[in-house]
Amino acid sequence: MTDKKPICQLTRKWPSRVEKAMGDKCELLINDEDKSLHREALAAALCSSDILCPTVTDSISAEVFALAEERGVRTKLLANFGVGFNHIDIEHASRLGIAVTNTPGVLTDATAEISMALLLMCARRTGEGERLVRSGAWDGWRPTHMLSTQVTGKTLGIIGMGRIGLAMAKKAHHGFGMQIIYSSRSALEGSLAEGISAIRCELSELLQKSDFVSLHCPSTPETKHLIDREALTTMGSHAFLINTARGEVIDEAALASALREGEIAGAGLDVYQNEPSINTALLNLENLVLLPHMGSGTNETREAMGMCAFDNIKAYLNGAELPNRVV
Ligand code: DGY
Repeated sequence: MTDKKPICQLTRKWPSRVEKAMGDKCELLINDEDKSLHREALAAALCSSDILCPTVTDSISAEVFALAEERGVRTKLLANFGVGFNHIDIEHASRLGIAVTNTPGVLTDATAEISMALLLMCARRTGEGERLVRSGAWDGWRPTHMLSTQVTGKTLGIIGMGRIGLAMAKKAHHGFGMQIIYSSRSALEGSLAEGISAIRCELSELLQKSDFVSLHCPSTPETKHLIDREALTTMGSHAFLINTARGEVIDEAALASALREGEIAGAGLDVYQNEPSINTALLNLENLVLLPHMGSGTNETREAMGMCAFDNIKAYLNGAELPNRVV
């Protein structure tokens, strides 16, 4: 009678091992089309499921909550598949008594790997090189061909020294002998900083001193367009910008113009302001590497993210404290 399983709606397909494990505990509804749900569908899901599991592509905005409220909200837990939760209006969720959880920790190394890959790609012009070879236009080795920027020993400025920023700092320092400077709300504890001798500084100093600037801060009202025209001008024509955090942190129009005019040397982006649309001004720039938001996209990590979300769900079902509660 009371052993009915709770209804749990996944807005996308999840790794199959995770779906299978969840199916034992919940009545699992899966969006088999695996396309982003529009706001009416999200509002309907808030009214029909006990647990809703969104991803970064689902904007659970005040508007979506308001639509759901008109019909009666059923959801008690939003178990997000991902660490960033800027796509969820968490204050609104909290007002409605809905708990929100995320999946920190498990995607740290995978995301730092993509940051490092972007850094290497734009410094060493590997995207351009690959395009050249595939086009059939490569006419052979010569001493002055496709010269690029050496990475080893350069200065990396990290904006946002959380888990992913620190993992990036370690890979860059231990793997490539890079000097690390950072700006962050809080200072690294001594023992963490010592391994990489990271020096904390103000944003303007970081922008001036860095050969590479890598963004690892969350998207908040304070970080919106943190990298604007002025910041790009401060970086200078030798410097590269890497973003695996959130698109909103960069003013994309200003970035396109700075890349076009050679005001900075290059950039590598994995995230964009209006995904999956890309500002067309960015598309044809040779000194820009573009990836499709794949920072956490390894088999190991996506499965771990799903299992982490499932741990939050199991805790909720057992009436226990939620391990990764955001609100
Ligand atoms: C994250 O976990 O925040 C990734 O960007 C995917 O959403």
